[in-house]
Amino acid sequence: MQNQHHPFPEDFLWGVSTSAFQVEGGADEGGKGPATTDLGANRPGIADNKVAADHYHHWKEDVDLMAELGLKVYRMGFSWSRIMPDNSGNPNPEGLAFYDRLIDYLLEKGIQPFVTLYHFECPQTAVDAFGGWRSRRMVDAYLRYAEVCFTHFKGRVRLWATVNEQLIATAAGMLNGNHEPDPQKNLQNVYQMSYNVSLAEHKAISLLRQIDPEAKIGPVCAIQVVYPQSSRSEDVLAAENAEELMEFYLLDMSVYGSYPPYVASYLKSHGLYPHTEPEDAAALQASKPDFIGINYYFSLCVKAKTGPINYDQPPFWVSDAFDICENPYLEKTEWMDKGIDPAGLHIGMRKVYNRYRLPMIVTENGMAYSEAPGPDGKIHDVYRIDYLRRHIGQLEIMLDEGLPVFGYCPWSFVDVVSSHQGFAKRYGLVYVNRTDTDLMDCARIKKDSFTWYQQVIRHNGLWEQ
Ligand code: BG6
Repeated sequence: MQNQHHPFPEDFLWGVSTSAFQVEGGADEGGKGPATTDLGANRPGIADNKVAADHYHHWKEDVDLMAELGLKVYRMGFSWSRIMPDNSGNPNPEGLAFYDRLIDYLLEKGIQPFVTLYHFECPQTAVDAFGGWRSRRMVDAYLRYAEVCFTHFKGRVRLWATVNEQLIATAAGMLNGNHEPDPQKNLQNVYQMSYNVSLAEHKAISLLRQIDPEAKIGPVCAIQVVYPQSSRSEDVLAAENAEELMEFYLLDMSVYGSYPPYVASYLKSHGLYPHTEPEDAAALQASKPDFIGINYYFSLCVKAKTGPINYDQPPFWVSDAFDICENPYLEKTEWMDKGIDPAGLHIGMRKVYNRYRLPMIVTENGMAYSEAPGPDGKIHDVYRIDYLRRHIGQLEIMLDEGLPVFGYCPWSFVDVVSSHQGFAKRYGLVYVNRTDTDLMDCARIKKDSFTWYQQVIRHNGLWEQ
C-alpha cells in the first residue's frame, strides 16, 4: 500500500465551510435587520438561528482554531440582513464593521476569505414589501447589496460565491418567505424566483468585473447525482430527466444564461415557464462565472414515473418525469438516509466538468451525526473521519483524471444549526457546547476529525496510516 496516496497540487485550497445564518447568531445585535431565517425556523424543541453557534461573539477564537487547523481558505457567508437591514439601499455600518474585523483577522492569519453573498437568508423587509424573489425588485436589492460588498471588500475578498444552492433557496418557503398553499401556484413561484435569482446572479458577475476585475466569482450548486433504479431505458431516462430538472437547468442558467431544451419544453408544457422581459437575454448572456462551487452529501436514485403526481414532497421532486426511490446498494445512517456514496462525488463532478469546462471547488461535503462529549470530555467521530477520507480519496482520483478541482471545504467548521433540523444533527470538526433547548456556554471542543483534517492539510493530502 506504500505510495498509494500522493500530494495534492501545491496551491490546493484546503478549507472549511459555514453560512452566516447557521453559524453567527447575534440575530438582534449590531443593527442587523430581521431575516427570513429569523422568523421561519421557530419550531418547538428545535434550535433556531438566533444564537446558532454564537460565532458573532466567538469569531476571534474561531479564527484562531482555523489557523491551528492550517486552513488556506474559509468559505463563509455574509448575512444579507446584517449588511442591508432594510429596503433603503443603505448599508449598516456596524454590520460592515463586524465583517471588517473578521476578514482582517483571517487575512492576518493567512486564511483567504471566500464569501457567499446569498446563502438561504435574506432581509424579511424585502419579503414583506414586495414578496422577495418572486419580484424583480429583489434583483435590484441583491445588486445593490453586491455593489456594497464588492466595493467595501475590494482587494480583501478575492473569491465570491453568488448564491448557495439555488435549488433549495427557491424551494424552501421557510427560507425565502414563499408560503403559497396552492401546489401549482407554488411551483410557478419557485420557477419565477429561480429565474430572478439567475438574472441577479449574472448581473452581479458583470458588476464584479467592473468593480474588482481581479476577483473571481461563481455559483454554488447542490449537485444531484441521480442513478436509475434499473437498466430499463425508462428508468435511465427518468434519471436523466431528474438531473436536467434539478441540476442542469440551474447550472445552464448560471453558465450559459439559458435553459436546456428539455427543461424549457417541460416548463412550457407544465405551465411553469417564468415571466421574462425582452432585455433579460442580453443580461443573462453578458457574463460567465469563473468556477463552479460543488455541494455534495449523497446521491439519489429514481425510477420511471408511475401514478399521479405527489405534491406532498419538496417542489423539485414534484414531477411527472421521475419518481424518487431507494438505492439498496448504499449504507444509510440516522441522518444520512439517502446513503453514503463517495463515488457519487466523482461521478457528479466529472459530469459538471464535461458540460461546463470550468474549474471546480468542493464548497460543502460532510457527515451529520448526533453527538455529545463522552466520559473523557471528547468526541471521537471516527465515522466523520471515514466519510471525509473516502470523499477526499475521490478528489485524488479526479485530479489524476485531469479534472481541475482547486479546493475542498468540508461542511462544517464548527457545529452549526442545521438548515431545518436544529442542533441534534451535527456536522462540525469542532463541537459547540449547546443543545437544541439549552444554550449552555457554546464552548468549542475540537473533535478527533479536527486533528485528522489538520494532518491532511499538513500532508497536503491523504497519507499512509
Ligand atoms: C446544504 C446547505 O444544503 O446542506 C447548508 O448549503 C446545510 O446550509 C447543509 O446546512 C446540510 O443540510 P442540513 O439540512 O442537514 O443542515
